[in-house]
Parts: sequence; C-alpha cells; structure tokens
Amino acid sequence: MNQKNGKNSLGIDICFEDLDNPIELFKKWFAKAEKTEINDPNAVAVATSNKDNQPNVRMVLLKGLSDKGFVFYTNFNSKKGSELKENLKASMCFHWKSLRRQVRVIGSVEEVSKKEADDYYNSRPYKNRIGAWASSQSQTLDKRNTFLKKIKEFEKKYPDQNNVPRPPHWSGWRVMPDEIEFWVDGEGRIHERLNYKNKNGKWEKELLYP
Ligand SMILES: Cc1cc2nc3c(=O)[nH]c(=O)nc-3n(C[C@H](O)[C@H](O)[C@H](O)COP(=O)(O)O)c2cc1C
Repeated sequence: MNQKNGKNSLGIDICFEDLDNPIELFKKWFAKAEKTEINDPNAVAVATSNKDNQPNVRMVLLKGLSDKGFVFYTNFNSKKGSELKENLKASMCFHWKSLRRQVRVIGSVEEVSKKEADDYYNSRPYKNRIGAWASSQSQTLDKRNTFLKKIKEFEKKYPDQNNVPRPPHWSGWRVMPDEIEFWVDGEGRIHERLNYKNKNGKWEKELLYP
C-alpha cells in the first residue's frame, strides 16, 4: 500500500518524491513494484491505433528503460506492428495492484537499434528465439499442429542454441514519452495524480484533479 507518512513540496504523498525527471520517479516506483507484485511487474498495456483511428490495446513486457523511453519487443508484422508502422504514436499503462498505483505514458515510437535488438534477442532462452521465427504473430492459424510443426522445422534449421539469428521482423519499439502521469489510490476515491509534460526537452510538472 502507499506510504501515508509525509507529503512532498506539492502537498501530495511523499511517494511522488520531488524529482524533475519522471524517468527517475518511474524507476523508484518500478523498483518497489518488483518487490510487491506477485508476477510480471513489467507487464504494461500498450495502446496503438490504425489509420482509421481504431484504438487497440494489449499487454507486453517492458524490457528496456532509459531517459529516451520505454522499450518492448515484438513481431513487427503483428497487428500492433502494422498499426505502429501506420501511426507512430502509442500509449502505455502500468497498473501495480499491490501498490494501488498507475503510470501512464503517451508519446511517439521508434524502432530500437539493431544492436539493442540483437543484444536482447540473444539473451532470451532458445525456445523463445525459435518461437520468434515460428510464430507469424497475429496471422490466422488453421490448426495448432501447423505451428508446432513450424517450431520443429526451425529447431532443425537452427540446432545450435548459441547461434539463432534474430528474425528480421522481430525487434523492439521504444515509446518516447511526451507525457508521463503517476497516479496513487486515495481513500474515498480522493486519488492523487502528478503529470509530467515534455516541453522542448524540459519536463514540467502539474497536479491533476483525480
Ligand atoms: C503479461 C503479458 C505479457 C506479454 N508480453 C508480450 C510482449 O512482450 N511482446 C509481444 O509481442 N506480446 C506479448 N504478449 C502478448 C500480447 O498481449 C498479444 O497477444 C500479442 O502481442 C499479439 O498482439 P497484436 O495482435 O495486437 O499484435 C503478452 C501478453 C501478456 C498477457
């Protein structure tokens, strides 16, 4: 649960700290969530939309974080991949139930560098790397066995566990934040919200009504 033992300079819970950089605040909240969540503290909903403005949201795992932004990995030919290619804007929402906290991010996306994608891909277990080749993510699958057969085929093609190349269609997207909003549950729905807005490379803070 949230600390109720102090306020920051804006008069909100001390867990919001008094930081100029929201990535630093995110890191603190995330470190706490890593201790309290029962699993996947890095699970995050990512919303995209296509050229007809149809929103679409699904969970992914946060696999990289820097001052530049929030990175997740996926198949670039998937639904989300096609949508992001059409509209390079995305939104993310973390919800840590154990802390009753939420963080929302909105911004534009870029593909991570080849080296960044290779480094992460090569850190994954063999099965996951084979799966990235075998799964035509988001395409229609006629029967489960077709997929299982494709897995076997790629295991035969890449038998050396230390040498499975990264599929060209598998990489990471970095969501580069324009805004990051931190939310904490309050008694009687009197919640607390702190929003950071990026104005020409400088972060500005504002409180929002809950
Ligand atoms: C907790 C959780 C984490 C997930 N992490 C990822 C991920 O990191 N990358 C990914 O491509 N799909 C991930 N998925 C699967 C996606 O939610 C989704 O089913 C898949 O990517 C296809 O989405 P799309 O058709 O919108 O592209 C995850 C699902 C869950 C429930």
